[in-house]
Amino acid sequence: MNRRFEPSGSLRGHVAPPADKSISHRAALFGAMSDEPVAIRNYLYAEDTLSTLTALRVLGAAVDMQEGELVLRGVGLRGALEATGGTLDVGNSGTLLRLLPGWLAGQPGGVWTLDGDESIRKRPVDRVVEPLARMGAAVKAREGRLPPLRVGGSQLTGIEYDLPVASAQVKSCVLIAGLLAEGETVVREPHPSRDHTERILLGSHARFSRRDDGALCVAQLDELELGEVTVPGDPSSAAFWITAATLVPDSRIVIDGVGLNWTRTGFIRIAERMGAVVVGELEAPGAFTPGEPIGDLDVASSTLECTEIVAAEIPLAIDEIPLVALLGVFAEGETIVSGAGELRVKESDRIMGVVEGLGGLGADIEATADGFVVRGTGRLRGGTIDSRGDHRLAMLGAVAGLVSEEGVEVERFDAVSVSYPSFERDLERLLAG
Ligand code: S3P
Repeated sequence: MNRRFEPSGSLRGHVAPPADKSISHRAALFGAMSDEPVAIRNYLYAEDTLSTLTALRVLGAAVDMQEGELVLRGVGLRGALEATGGTLDVGNSGTLLRLLPGWLAGQPGGVWTLDGDESIRKRPVDRVVEPLARMGAAVKAREGRLPPLRVGGSQLTGIEYDLPVASAQVKSCVLIAGLLAEGETVVREPHPSRDHTERILLGSHARFSRRDDGALCVAQLDELELGEVTVPGDPSSAAFWITAATLVPDSRIVIDGVGLNWTRTGFIRIAERMGAVVVGELEAPGAFTPGEPIGDLDVASSTLECTEIVAAEIPLAIDEIPLVALLGVFAEGETIVSGAGELRVKESDRIMGVVEGLGGLGADIEATADGFVVRGTGRLRGGTIDSRGDHRLAMLGAVAGLVSEEGVEVERFDAVSVSYPSFERDLERLLAG
C-alpha cells in the first residue's frame, strides 16, 4: 500500500507514542520464563510484539490480552522442556529472533527452528550462534549465518563473552542463556547499548550485577520473580514527532509518556546538539536502576546546525539514525555519521535506504562504508520513496513529505504496522492540533 504525505502546516497539541517495542518483547519473554503470572501494562499490540506472543503460546505460556493490560502465565525458566520442539515464526522481528534462542538453548532435549518473513531471512544470526555454541548449545544457521535457525537445547555452561559489536539483542541473548547456565556468565560490549534486559534482571531477584568496568555478570537461577511491568511510550517512535516538530515551522507539541532511559535517548542528545528544542527530564547518562523512567517531552521548531556522530553514540540512537539524515538536510553545514555499519543489517539496508530514499527526494547525501554524509541545503523537493518494507523508512518518508515542497509518496507504507499501527491517526491529530 502506497501513501502520500503533503507539505504540512504547523504541528500542535499532544501525542502519546505507542508502547515501547523493545521493552514489550522483553516483558513478554520474561513473563513466559516466570512461574507466577505477570501483568504487563501498556503492552505494544503491533505486528512484531504479537509475533512474540504467538511464539510464547507455542512454548506453553498462556496469554490473556486485555485492553491496557496483558497477563502472561508462564512456564518457568526451564518450562519450555514441556514442549519438545517445533517451528517458531518470528515474523519480521529481529529482537525475537535473537532473544528467544537464549532461552531455548538452555532446555535440554528440545529442538526448535526459528524462521520468519523474507526480510528476517537476511538478518545475521551468527552473532548469537557463536556465544550459544560456546555455552554448549547445538545451534545451526543456514550457511552458518542466516535463518532458519535451529536451536537444540542442552545443559549450558557459563562463558566470558566480549561482543564484537555493541548489540542489545546479542547481549540479552547471552544474559538470558546465563540464567540457565552452570557457573557465571560475563558479557562485555564495546559501547553501551540499550539496557532494558539488565533493568528487568535487576528487578526480578536474579543473581545479576554490573562491575565497575561495565562487565555484566549473571549466575544460574531457579526462578524469576518479575512482579508487574509498565511499558513506557517508545522513544524510537517519538523520534519521528520530534523530527517533524523541529522541522515544520511554528510547531509546538507535547509527547506524553515517553521512556526516557538514557540508553534510548541518544537521538534527542544529537538533535539538541544540532539546535533542536526538546524540553523534558531525560535520565542522566550512566544510570543503572531497576524499572524504566517515563516522562513528557515538549518540542518546538527551531533552526539547526550540522554535527558529527561517532561510533560510541550509534548504539544509543541506532534506530533513529535515519532521522539524523533528515535533520541534516535542514541543518547548516555537513552532517557526518560514521561507525554505523550495523544499519546495513537492520530490517533493510538502512544506509542505502536513507541515501537512495532521501537522495531521490532531492537531498544532497552520499553513503560511506559505515554511514553517510549529508550537506544541508535547507530544502527537500519531494517525490517518491520506497520503504523497502522497513517500518522506520516508511515513517521517515512520511515526515519527509511533511517538510517537502511537493509532497512525498511512500511506497509500501503499511510496513509501519510492525511498530506503529496508529501513526496516521496520530499525525492527523497533530495536524488538526
Ligand atoms: C533492539 C536492539 C537494537 C535495535 C532493535 C531493537 C532490542 O538492535 O536496532 O530495533 O530490542 O534489543 P541491536 O541490538 O542488534 O543493535
